[in-house]
Amino acid sequence: MPLLIARTLKALRENSGFVSGQSLARSIGISRSGLWKHIRVLRGHGYVVLSRRSAGYSLVSSPDRPYPWELALLMRSELFSRRILYKETLDSTNSYASRLALLGAEEGTVVIAGAQTGGRGRLGRIWHSPPIVNLYTSVILRPPWHPSMGPSLTLAAGVAVAECLEDLYGLQPRIKWPNDILINGKKAAGILTEMNAEQDRINFIVLGIGLNVNAQESDFPPTLRDLTTSARQALGRPVGMVQCAAALYDHVDECYTHLITRSLKTIRERWEARSALTGQHVQATGPDKVVTGRALGLDENGALIIRTEEGAEEHIIAGDISLCSLP
Ligand code: BTN
Repeated sequence: MPLLIARTLKALRENSGFVSGQSLARSIGISRSGLWKHIRVLRGHGYVVLSRRSAGYSLVSSPDRPYPWELALLMRSELFSRRILYKETLDSTNSYASRLALLGAEEGTVVIAGAQTGGRGRLGRIWHSPPIVNLYTSVILRPPWHPSMGPSLTLAAGVAVAECLEDLYGLQPRIKWPNDILINGKKAAGILTEMNAEQDRINFIVLGIGLNVNAQESDFPPTLRDLTTSARQALGRPVGMVQCAAALYDHVDECYTHLITRSLKTIRERWEARSALTGQHVQATGPDKVVTGRALGLDENGALIIRTEEGAEEHIIAGDISLCSLP
């Protein structure tokens, strides 16, 4: 269905003025009643399609929303084109995708929400999710890995988001371990990786990404305004949501495929090249201890290495990192 809607949209866009229903239907390979049905769906989603009895149809305007048919037209990723689900509002795209994965949804399934009422961040935090302006998405992956490989996906996703913002907008994002994407020191995106695994194999991973695309300061509560930013705020102009989302899935596909077919090593190098922490004096607050020292980089499993004042090397696998002033 989204594929036929995509073809309808493409055919409408290929004609700048009116085009007859008959030639549209023929070029898409559907009946005229099928065409009418798809045009109704498009109109229901905010597309302005004029119709004139004698002239046919004309597409006047399109909303800039990451609808499945828009992504199907722009995205190169085959993996993430298989099944794209868009919902106006969800509690959390991660929770929804997990429910789908438990029911057997295939690898590559994409969930997108226009808004989240219970967006979740790392360490039980809330992910503030105002409607329409930002991208809230989760993808289901089923890598043939031992569960110990799971965290490497978080690093790969961080690289994907950062490289997407570089390629599209020429921004220079930094990654704060494990996966905060910062622009000018403020958070522009976050990644929540949730794994369902058995002792020696992963059943599925839900990779959730919240990317602040067009949010303005007023879209965030006052307490978050100094800490968050968006592509729009960084560039001083609004950006295209569909283009941004399509590029993001392409980048995530490339990084994930790289991990599957090659290794973590080059992903780690790409991550390190964008690290916000390397060389900095940091404090890591983990589940059972606090470590202070200089961040050295990542070990071969993606843990953050910190050299303490005493000269010991600590490998942090979970926790929260803050920058400290020098002792
Ligand atoms: C973090 O930085 O703490 C991670 C934030 C992850 C937010 C995204 S938004 C889409 C997906 N659904 C969620 O509930 N969370 C992730």
